[in-house]
Order: sequence, then structure tokens, then C-alpha cells
Amino acid sequence: MMFLKTLCLPLLFTLISLRSCFGIDSYTEDPFHVDFRRGRAYRRPISYRPYVRTFGHVPNIRNYRNPYSVNRFDHNSGIRARLDRARGPMTSKMVNVDDFGAKANGRDDSLAFKKAWNYACSSSQGATMVVPKKKTYHVKPINFSGPCKSPLVLKIYGTIKATTDHSEYEGNGRRWLYFDNVENLRVEGGGTINGNGRTWWEKSCKINKALVTLQGSANCKLLHLLCVVFRIWPTCVNIFSSELQAVTFNECTNLRVSSLRIKNAQQMHLIFRECVNVNAFNLRVKAPGNSPNTDGIHVTGTQNININNCVIGTGDDCISIVSGSKNVRATGITCGPGHGISIGSLGAGNSAAYVSNVIVNKATFRDTTNGVRIKTWQGGSGYAKNIRFQNIVMNNVSNPIIIDQNYCDKRKPCRKQVSAVQVSDVLYQNIRGTSATGVAVKFDCSQSVPCRRIYLQDVALRAEEEDSAQASCANVRLSYRGDVSPPCSSQN
Ligand SMILES: *[C@@H]1O[C@H](CO)[C@@H](O)[C@H](O)[C@H]1NC(C)=O
Ligand SMILES: *[C@@H]1O[C@H](CO)[C@@H](O)[C@H](O)[C@H]1NC(C)=O
Repeated sequence: MMFLKTLCLPLLFTLISLRSCFGIDSYTEDPFHVDFRRGRAYRRPISYRPYVRTFGHVPNIRNYRNPYSVNRFDHNSGIRARLDRARGPMTSKMVNVDDFGAKANGRDDSLAFKKAWNYACSSSQGATMVVPKKKTYHVKPINFSGPCKSPLVLKIYGTIKATTDHSEYEGNGRRWLYFDNVENLRVEGGGTINGNGRTWWEKSCKINKALVTLQGSANCKLLHLLCVVFRIWPTCVNIFSSELQAVTFNECTNLRVSSLRIKNAQQMHLIFRECVNVNAFNLRVKAPGNSPNTDGIHVTGTQNININNCVIGTGDDCISIVSGSKNVRATGITCGPGHGISIGSLGAGNSAAYVSNVIVNKATFRDTTNGVRIKTWQGGSGYAKNIRFQNIVMNNVSNPIIIDQNYCDKRKPCRKQVSAVQVSDVLYQNIRGTSATGVAVKFDCSQSVPCRRIYLQDVALRAEEEDSAQASCANVRLSYRGDVSPPCSSQN
């Protein structure tokens, strides 16, 4: 029982405390306002490829032009101005990890990284911390803590590789590179962050079902038992399947993360948690399609974030957006393999969840299990609203368009519950391509809290192999514009 309390209760409190993010609400734009009055004024997509020409080589960020420029983010000129400040002063100090004793010889370089960070972070004239190219540095879990005295740039030219000593992670909240409470930070350089995750994947409770049942590790068995006995499985799933994090930015403000390869994370690759004003672009995130829980980019409790021009292929969601997130824009995303772009899961363990103002624009999915998905657990509360999915190409995607309000990550079906996270004001616009299954559009909404104001405009999805694609629609209030195929045969 003690064990249960120490693990599950803090999580519940975290979920509950996310509520407070919504007290200060100045954002009022209706994302449908413009497009729906413009009717068919959209362009046909062929394929949306991220702009990667400058990947790994963005010598002068001022000349960098992004074709899906953040300027187009209608409400973010303020964000942009603030991000400009994150560029750092011209006279900044160079802080090379090698000068602090990093050897890149296969032994642990954590101490040198830590010292270099502390030095850079305490510089009052701005600093650039450099991880030199063509070298591989092995590091244990590290806290890169702020606040720092002035704007900081972390230039990763070489490779940072994670230790596989699992015990090192226990004291660190199961996080590897943890940037905490830093303002005006840029992380860039074209280098690689390698989570070295294989040993973790093999141990995962999810991948190795035997672990959960009989022969498995004590931790998996105990957790499973507690979760079943106390019927708080959803909460538990979050605890032991989502916690290991490769690169986390926690409570960072005016942050830019760009031109990096992030691969083979222990579980999640890149996490933005409770951050404000984030620009993430030119990122390549890669892990095998069968690696468990390796979300590409996870956004939680974060406001004003642009994710541009990213190529993401992992064993879980390419991008997942969960509670407390607001004003999220993902543009020019290539996703696959993986589970697609998800809002959720929301409302696990009867929690309240709030996600609003999300735009996914210009994305290409290939061989993913989902395209654009909203998933909520039964029994939750709160909302997911003002969401636009537009200009999207699906290639052999199992569930191209899906809202699942009966989400259940469990072998036995979840208990029926009446409350639900309200899903409303969702626009699907100009979405084309193929479905790997016969059901291309699925709205499985809650009977008691139906999905409302769901708009479909110019949707053309056909089945990759079967003769015709179907839409499966339950408890959803829909409007159509333009040609929509497949349509819901009956609405209720
Ligand atoms: C990192 O900070 C957390 C608290 O935020 C602390 O619990 C942990 O021990 C620190 N880890 C390291 C390696 O310093
Ligand atoms: C589509 O995806 C399925 C698995 O989801 C795969 O078996 C099939 O070969 C794929 N088809 C094509 C044409 O790529």
C-alpha cells in the first residue's frame, strides 16, 4: 500500500495541478473562424516533405528560412519576438566540454558535462557550451538546471550517448538529459543524442508480456498486481510505461531546440513539460518501429509551441500532446513508422484533462497505426477542443482519422463509465491518401458525452487493399464541407 501511495498519488496530484494552467487564459482565437468562411480555398497536397536541406548545418540562424515559417502562426508574433531573445548575445563565452575533462573515450563524461554546464550557466555575458564534432561522449543521467544568469546556447556537434547502467536512472526520476527551469536556451548543432535504449526495450513490461505475468521482474509483477487489485490501471500504465525520458525540458521558457538527431531513446525521446514559448524544428527522431513507448515528441502542460519540419519514426506516437497543452502547432511533419500524431491519451484514472488550440498542418504519414488521433479514457473530465488537422497525406495508415473516447490500453476491456473528456470543435480539412484497413474514419465517441462540432472538409481516403473504405461513427455530431469520402453512413 505504501508503494502504491508513493508512486501513484504524486502522479494524480500532478495531473490535478495541471488545472491551474488554465486560470490565466488570454488566448481566444477560434481556429475555425477563417478557414470555414473561405470554403474551398485550399491547395491540394502532393506530399509534405519537411525542409531538411539545411539539416545539420544552420551556421547563421538569422538567414535560416523556414518554408512553413512561424510567421504564419497567426497568433504567435509575440512568441517569435520572445524567441528572438533566446538567440543570445554576440559576445558569449565559449565553453567546451573537453576543457572540463571530457574525453570521449567510452568512459563516463558526465562530470565534465555537469561542470561545463555550471560554468556556462553562471556566466553573466551569455555562453555557448560546445560538444565537439566527430566524438562520442558517454553520459549518465544529468540535470542541466537553471535558472542561468544569461541566455545559453548548447551546441551539440558530436554525439551524446546514454549509459546503459539502469541503476543510474533510479535516482533521477528515470530521466536522462533533464533541462530544468532554464530561460532563453537554444539547443542545436546538427549532432546526435543517442538514448542507447535497446537494453530498456528488452526489459519493458509491454514488449515482454511474460514479464507482466509469470517470470518477470519483480517491479513489473508488483505494479501489475497493484494496478489490478486497486483498479487504477490507467494511472499505473502512465507510471511504468511513460516515465523514462531521454531529453526533457521542464519548465523552460523561450526555448529553441533545432537541428538535432535524437535516436533510440530509452522510452520517450523529446519531452516538453510545462514549458512556455517553444520552437522545435529540423529534428530527426528515430527508433525501431517495435521499440516500446518510444514517443517521438511529447508535449505536456506546455503553451505556445511550434514544431516544424521534423522527421519522426518510432515505436509509439510521433507526437503526443497531453493535458495542460495549449497553442500547439505542428507543421511539416513526416511520421512513420509509429502510432501517428495523438492528442492524448487524456483522462486516465478519472483525471481532468485540458488541451486546446492545436493545429497539425502539412503532415505525411506512412505505414503508421494511426494518422491523426484523439484518445481519451472513460471516466475522465475536461476537454480537448479547437483542434485542426489540415493538409495531410496518409499512406497505408491503419486508422487515418480516429477519435477514440473509449481508449483502453489493457488486455481486458475497461469498466464502463459515464463521464468523459469532452471532444469538440475539431476540423479535418484536406486529408487524402490510403487506409491500411477498411475503416478509414473512426469516431468512437462517448455515449454520455458525445463529440460535438466535428467538421470534415475535403477528405478523400480510400482503402489500400480492400475495395472500399468505410467510416465508423458513433455518438458524434458532424458537419461536412466539400467532398468527404468515406462519409459516415448514419449519424447518431
Ligand atoms: C536531479 O534533480 C532531481 C530533482 O529535480 C533530483 O531528485 C535528482 O537527484 C537530481 N539528479 C542528479 C543526477 O543530480
Ligand atoms: C500496408 O500496411 C500493412 C500493415 O499495416 C502491411 O502489411 C502492408 O504490406 C502495407 N501495404 C503496402 C502497400 O505497403
